[in-house]
Amino acid sequence: MRLIFQKLVLAFMQLWLWWSSSIHVDAADDSLNPGDTINSSLHPLYSKSNKYLLAFIKIGGQVDSFPYLAIMSEYDNAIVWDANQEQSIDDSDAVLSLNLSGVLKIEYASVKKPIILYSPPQPINNTVATLLDTGNFVLQHLHPNGTNTLLWQSFDYPTNTLIPTMKLGVNHKTGHRWLLFSQLTYGSATRGAFSLEWEPREQELMIRRRGKVCWKSGKVRNNRFENIPEDAQGVLKYSIVSNGDEDTFSFTSKNESHTRRWFLSDTGQLSCNYNEGDVARADLCYGYNNTEGGCQRWQDIPKCRIPGDVFTKKILRSNYQNVTADENENISYSDCEAACWSDCYCNGFKEFSNDGNYIVEATVSGEDIYLLENKGNIIPHHQGTKRRIWISTGIATTLLIICASILCLAIKKRKHVLQEKKRKEMSLIEDLGNDLNKKYGLKVLDYTLVVAATNEFSSENKLGQGGFGPVYKGTLPTGEEVAIKRLARSSTQGMVEFKNELTLICELQHMNLVQLLGCCIHEEEKILIYDYMSNKSLDFYLFDCTRSKLLDWNRRFSIIKGIAQGLLYLHKYSRLKVIHRDLKASNILLDENMNPKISDFGMARMFTQQDSISNTNRVVGTYGYMSPEYAMEGIFSTKSDVYSFGVLLLEIVSGRKNTSFYDDDHPLNLVGHVWELWKDDKYFELVDPSLNEVFDHEEVQRCIHIGLLCVEHYANDRPTMSDIILMLTSKSPIVSLPQKPAFYVQSRNYFFYSRNDYFYLNIYVLILKESKMTTFT
Ligand SMILES: *[C@@H]1O[C@H](CO)[C@@H](O)[C@H](O)[C@H]1NC(C)=O
Ligand SMILES: *[C@@H]1O[C@H](CO)[C@@H](O)[C@H](O)[C@H]1NC(C)=O
Ligand SMILES: *[C@@H]1O[C@H](CO)[C@@H](O)[C@H](O)[C@H]1NC(C)=O
Ligand SMILES: *[C@@H]1O[C@H](CO)[C@@H](O)[C@H](O)[C@H]1NC(C)=O
Ligand SMILES: *[C@@H]1O[C@H](CO)[C@@H](O)[C@H](O)[C@H]1NC(C)=O
Ligand SMILES: *[C@@H]1O[C@H](CO)[C@@H](O)[C@H](O)[C@H]1NC(C)=O
Ligand SMILES: *[C@@H]1O[C@H](CO)[C@@H](O)[C@H](O)[C@H]1NC(C)=O
Ligand SMILES: *[C@@H]1O[C@H](CO)[C@@H](O)[C@H](O)[C@H]1NC(C)=O
Repeated sequence: MRLIFQKLVLAFMQLWLWWSSSIHVDAADDSLNPGDTINSSLHPLYSKSNKYLLAFIKIGGQVDSFPYLAIMSEYDNAIVWDANQEQSIDDSDAVLSLNLSGVLKIEYASVKKPIILYSPPQPINNTVATLLDTGNFVLQHLHPNGTNTLLWQSFDYPTNTLIPTMKLGVNHKTGHRWLLFSQLTYGSATRGAFSLEWEPREQELMIRRRGKVCWKSGKVRNNRFENIPEDAQGVLKYSIVSNGDEDTFSFTSKNESHTRRWFLSDTGQLSCNYNEGDVARADLCYGYNNTEGGCQRWQDIPKCRIPGDVFTKKILRSNYQNVTADENENISYSDCEAACWSDCYCNGFKEFSNDGNYIVEATVSGEDIYLLENKGNIIPHHQGTKRRIWISTGIATTLLIICASILCLAIKKRKHVLQEKKRKEMSLIEDLGNDLNKKYGLKVLDYTLVVAATNEFSSENKLGQGGFGPVYKGTLPTGEEVAIKRLARSSTQGMVEFKNELTLICELQHMNLVQLLGCCIHEEEKILIYDYMSNKSLDFYLFDCTRSKLLDWNRRFSIIKGIAQGLLYLHKYSRLKVIHRDLKASNILLDENMNPKISDFGMARMFTQQDSISNTNRVVGTYGYMSPEYAMEGIFSTKSDVYSFGVLLLEIVSGRKNTSFYDDDHPLNLVGHVWELWKDDKYFELVDPSLNEVFDHEEVQRCIHIGLLCVEHYANDRPTMSDIILMLTSKSPIVSLPQKPAFYVQSRNYFFYSRNDYFYLNIYVLILKESKMTTFT
């Protein structure tokens, strides 16, 4: 708002300079008689008491723009009306005339067709066009008997400004509707996305964005609209007319000597000229239900958007690829916003100014972008410490911003409800400990012990950051080394549910799964304690050119088989089918014998199973490992894990990260690249050079083949984990041939809104899906 205000002031100042230097002001005259003309350098019309003037004025105040016929307030030089909406003028030789046939028109030397403001059905010579003190420019027919009839008036064609006595609403006799339209961008003559209307049935004002209601004033009582701030309406007197002739709204200033105006901006703000606040902020209205300030729920909100998601302007620092889209000169900032909003794969857009228009494009470093962020409630840290958000470290700045937005869960529960709940839950903790200890030998550690073991969660002890919270190395008093996972706060998960989940995880025991040793609960902290894996995780070796030499082919093949066994166990385990949902190299830990152990299993359940709120906005997936149906529709099944397994398998063979694969020479992701090689029968080129060509060709071919089957586009085409184990272990040839995989791209021309291609650019991808996955890579 402040910015717009400044812009306006600046514009008016410029305008004034231009105005005073180029127009010679004659004695005031308020009327145009038949045969009279006004041109761009002569004779403006002044209303009787000089409140308004009519002249050719450069809209937007740019010195090099062309003049439009406009009405300007003498008081502050603000343009309140212009005649040429939707016309682009490229001529400064303009003439307004009222000719002897009663035609009121504007002629430009270079525009062949004149702009006809009014043309009577029959020629009439006794007319007069007058600029009234209200700011209304009227054309009247004078009758010999001394009366006159109104033929045309500028108030019938409002632009983006509402001035006193100007009506909004509908004329029932003629069907004519009065409404304000915003400009496409500030100072542009093209109509923008917003309109301000009077709704006769509900008797309220509303702002629509491209036809859809986004703001309502609420009912008027005692000269006050519910949703308009007092400061903005206290000085006005409303006049609402509802009869057979018309249904209209207009206002006047309580103190006639003050100029009052409303102005609908290109972003949907309804500002006024007498107060720093706004009348309405439709620019702050987002699709979810928010009646605060009159904002309306949109009819169609994608499931991926939750309350609190809003666009904020950021400076982009990481070097994004240049991705352009929608080069439509007729779309405005708000159209970009709406387009991005309704596309679950869009996390932001950039304003590209070209003659004041916007183009949606992904963006290059150092520029302003509008990112979708969640401004909802952040869960407060206990004991009154600063609000904190658990976010991954080591990701690009922009992703950081994005991630933060997702992890700030907008949980609209009132504080006291939470506290009450917490008190009840505290009593459950002891029972929990005793129970799990008896059944599974699970240790329940004291919080002080955990704090001591991790050196107060010091950064030296931090092993890494998982999707569900940071992991620390800890040494118990017994000398035993453990991995301590501090779960990101999940305030909606109660102790009962936590206990149930822990029980389930305790029941999962397999040599290829990391073993849970204990847990610790302290206030809102939930901490899990695992076996410490001395050899870190698979990615530590795989993606490092020296360490990868430690993984020979036999080792790799047995890791692949181990992971497959672990996954099969999760998928087939009789009592609860566990879908991992975040299988990736960094979640495969290696024990002292380099046996793979899947970690973080069951976590997705823990975070999503319980509360109706939490299951709509939590769960982590990792871009590059997510199957198309999961990434796009949020549908997950064991086949989504199979997809991730396929990617992982190909990474193990190639020693390359799927997500880091994209470069100029290889405009494909790993999966696409493998497919190309496979098609050309050159798939051995894929094998990690660290292996020094020492590998079993049959096994490698088998693995690549299986990998490609796993990443097939359609979940049904992918094998199950038991099929995979069969294929991995048998010597007989694999029958089914892979199809072109999902996420395979050929070209670098990515369009922001081209759903399929867009997905390949991993750095852009923020998936604000129903399950609110984030991209931590
Ligand atoms: C404006 O009108 C005056 C008087 O009719 C004329 O002298 C002048 O040349 C006109 N200027 C333009 C730009 O048409
Ligand atoms: C008035 O203007 C209209 C439209 O340009 C034209 O058709 C008409 O002939 C004009 N009348 C006179 C008397 O010049
Ligand atoms: C206007 O037109 C009428 C006939 O239509 C004519 O009698 C009258 O003289 C005209 N007046 C002027 C001022 O041209
Ligand atoms: C004056 O004349 C016009 C047109 O001739 C007519 O429509 C109107 O009713 C008349 N008004 C009066 C008061 O006679
Ligand atoms: C209207 O405003 C003027 C100028 O601020 C002031 O002098 C005058 O007293 C006001 N009139 C009323 C009725 O408030
Ligand atoms: C939206 O808000 C209004 C007013 O608070 C309420 O009556 C309505 O039920 C809400 N609609 C939804 C879908 O939440
Ligand atoms: C982005 O793309 C546009 C059009 O494709 C091009 O004109 C511009 O130079 C590109 N910018 C960068 C930084 O690559
Ligand atoms: C923009 O709008 C103008 C006028 O409405 C139209 O002629 C033009 O084709 C539009 N351009 C695009 C790219 O839609």
